[in-house]
Amino acid sequence: MRRAVCPGSFDPVTNGHLDIVGRAAALFDEVVVAVGVNKSKSSSRMFTPEERMDMLRRACEPWPNVSVRGFTGLLTDFCAEHGIQAIVKGLRAVSDFDYELQMAQMNASLTEVETVFVPTSPAWSFLASSLVKEVATYGGDVSTLVPDFVHEQLVARVAERGAGA
Ligand code: PNS
Repeated sequence: MRRAVCPGSFDPVTNGHLDIVGRAAALFDEVVVAVGVNKSKSSSRMFTPEERMDMLRRACEPWPNVSVRGFTGLLTDFCAEHGIQAIVKGLRAVSDFDYELQMAQMNASLTEVETVFVPTSPAWSFLASSLVKEVATYGGDVSTLVPDFVHEQLVARVAERGAGA
């Protein structure tokens, strides 16, 4: 059984993330999408861990071999606990590579886990959750960049925040 993890913050999940998850699902027997729940960053998040995981579960319904879990602490500990041999990461551009290589080498120094880099599809190479949130906050149209139900929640959250500001 070949099991991989797709880790991230997914605040919120984008079509770029789903491109990588879907391709990982074709390469591995099982894929766990692991949502980092880093308490020190929680105030900067737009969505709670539960909201992020609910959106991911719905978005990953097309792939029966994909599950979604939250994790705290080290990703390598999560991999050991769940019998995961590979970390799958998308690379959008050369600018991603430096940090991703550093993390891959650090993770490999901690356990025997392998990191597999998948090139992001050109259609999504500019895409980042942080940019999606910024554009949505200023009223820009991001409806083609995230699943429809994520877009609805994003617009609603922006409106709530605007109303409370
Ligand atoms: O979507 P992000 O913010 O790029 O996701 C980053 C994430 C959650 C994948 C990364 O921060 C991570 O692996 N965090 C877990 C803590 C850890 O293992 N740190 C050591 C990395 S070498």
